[in-house]
Amino acid sequence: MIMKSFLLSVLVILSACQNKANDKIVIGNFGSLTGAEATFGISTKQGIELAIEEWNKAGGVLGKQIELKAYDNQGKPEEARLSVEKLINVDNVVAVLGEVASTRSLAAAPVAQQYKVPMISPSSTNPLVTQKGDYIFRVCFIDPFQGEVMAKFAFNSLKLKKGAILRDSKSDYSMGLANYFIKTFEALGGTIVADEKFVSGDVDFKAQLTSIKNKSPEFIFVPGYYTEVGLIARQAREAGVKVPLMGGDGWDSDKLTEIGGAAVEGSYFSNHYTVEDPRPEVQNFIANYKTKFGTMPDALAASGYDAARVLLEAIKRANSIEGQKLRDSIAATKDFQGATGIITINEQRDATKSAVVLKVVGKAFKFVESVKP
Ligand code: PHE
Repeated sequence: MIMKSFLLSVLVILSACQNKANDKIVIGNFGSLTGAEATFGISTKQGIELAIEEWNKAGGVLGKQIELKAYDNQGKPEEARLSVEKLINVDNVVAVLGEVASTRSLAAAPVAQQYKVPMISPSSTNPLVTQKGDYIFRVCFIDPFQGEVMAKFAFNSLKLKKGAILRDSKSDYSMGLANYFIKTFEALGGTIVADEKFVSGDVDFKAQLTSIKNKSPEFIFVPGYYTEVGLIARQAREAGVKVPLMGGDGWDSDKLTEIGGAAVEGSYFSNHYTVEDPRPEVQNFIANYKTKFGTMPDALAASGYDAARVLLEAIKRANSIEGQKLRDSIAATKDFQGATGIITINEQRDATKSAVVLKVVGKAFKFVESVKP
């Protein structure tokens, strides 16, 4: 008798769990919520949360409320891989959103591909990410384009002919972006006089900066993340290097000026969006984000928001959460009005969209120009 009622309550609990799982649509997110690049993960997750909240208020998707399950990978590629395993096998998510850093997206993508669960990276720009398989997407542009944008900007707009590179040998993003930059810059007729390397987590860049200084470049291209770029800028100025610094989207965080101070003033970088964009999709997003989180959204927040909305729209269009149908629906995304621009997913599962060039002025990133793909 006791055994029977025990079994019955187990069954009741089990089916309650089942029902609970079934009356919600669960979406996964994995990112660096702690560690050196914590602003990447936190901003992205907040952007996703805002998108989900807006959809839930409007009735959810396929008649169900949407739930977010997020894991912190502390900025470690292996943890990123494990997070996706867990999201798929334990939490039964319908899709995963992440990562920011290309190295971590590259580590996690094979898992999503293996289980045929769609993955959308909000902001990983290394071309190899979506080549991991036909279930892997991104809502951002890729580094061959971003490198070309900055090389043309240096050569044509700033009229600089002699550049130096300082890149992170442990980052797929940094290594790739530097290569694409060099390719275009040299094709235009420019010369790269120094190509120095560091490793993520380094704090002393004096040796590299001294050899760069000895070659007298007119600018230094530093395709890294804000963490190291801020320190590099400071040490460059201390070493008497006065030329402009340039970089890519990895610079984007309000921590850049916090770490770099006056040393990053006047530098340029390419990015996914600008807060100065007057389109209502951008201004409404900024206003709602500020109300919810009390801070200005950076490009990561905007990309997270867009990735989540592209996914939810795709679920709605597919009228299904089944892997293959959802995959096909994401692949069919066309002219989606995002905060980071108008998103069309191409044959390679990348987004074809514009980039902006920004200039660091005080604590702000001022819009300089927009470049179409
Ligand atoms: N694009 C970077 C990468 O692929 C990540 C990044 C995107 C960082 C946007 C900051 C802002 O690694």
